[in-house]
Amino acid sequence: MTVLSQTALLHELEPVVEKNLDRHLSLAKEWFPHEYVPWSEGRTFDGPLGGEPWAEKDSTLPEVARTALIVNLLTEDNLPSYHHEIASLFGRDGAWGTWVHRWTAEEGRHGTAIRDYLTVTRAVDPVALERARMVHMSAGYHNTHDDEVLHSLAYVSFQELATRISHRNTGRATADPICEALLARVAADENLHMVFYRNLLAAAFELAPSQAMRAVADVLADFQMPGVGIEGFARKSVAIALAGIYDLRQHRDEVVVPVLRQWNLFEATGLDADGEVARDQIAAHLDTLELQASRFEEKRAARAARRPTTPAPSVRADHGVLADNQPG
Ligand SMILES: [Fe+2]
Ligand SMILES: [Fe+2]
Repeated sequence: MTVLSQTALLHELEPVVEKNLDRHLSLAKEWFPHEYVPWSEGRTFDGPLGGEPWAEKDSTLPEVARTALIVNLLTEDNLPSYHHEIASLFGRDGAWGTWVHRWTAEEGRHGTAIRDYLTVTRAVDPVALERARMVHMSAGYHNTHDDEVLHSLAYVSFQELATRISHRNTGRATADPICEALLARVAADENLHMVFYRNLLAAAFELAPSQAMRAVADVLADFQMPGVGIEGFARKSVAIALAGIYDLRQHRDEVVVPVLRQWNLFEATGLDADGEVARDQIAAHLDTLELQASRFEEKRAARAARRPTTPAPSVRADHGVLADNQPG
């Protein structure tokens, strides 16, 4: 079986990019970040303008919702790094280039909208947020598979869906209808991004099934959310998982499994030896995730039972997580 080079893969997939770009542009709805922000709630801060400094009592959002908003925003903030990674790999010409720039433009509104909301509503400490942004962006983001087209497409298929779910559940956890509407709007963008990448990898399964299978197996084996470099990420993601905003059960059942199902990879034919090995690895990975997710559902339930008087602010109290394997 011929192994396609990275250049050949990009070339062969170009018509699929073109088709899905048209599809994306016909479905994507124009929207305006400023319309989702309650500007009249804003007050001038201290500093050059001599307003009031932020104080803990200013925020009315649950602690865990604030944590999730900060993680989601810092993740969006690293867009220049993501752009660099995909522009380097996919190129800036033709349909690939058009997609790279369009995607970047759409992602750009997410950080704008969330930061405006957080600043105007005084939901989080703006000084701590800015310092965290500086640290996070100064470290940058590096794609683990930065020279492999199919690995990168597999990664973003899962990651865009994970981000969609994380934004949507963060909105619910705020219990603020304004924030919920904003994050639902952002989540709708992430969903279209996921569909674009998922369709491209589906085409890759037709073109080079064993290479696509290998890419999916490798990416699942070392999957990490793009915000993994955020200061205190491990602690923050445990809180986020305990609240059911993004946990291993959701990762397995609402991100990994639905995307895999769309690729029909357990029915794929014409695999070479490594393609078969990769498929077995994917199946084994799903079993491991199931075990880990169940174990942490039990742990979380036990934790909740020990503290009957202080219910956790939970979006999905029925779901548990393995803290050390929490991907979001
Ligand atoms: Fe985004
Ligand atoms: Fe996205």
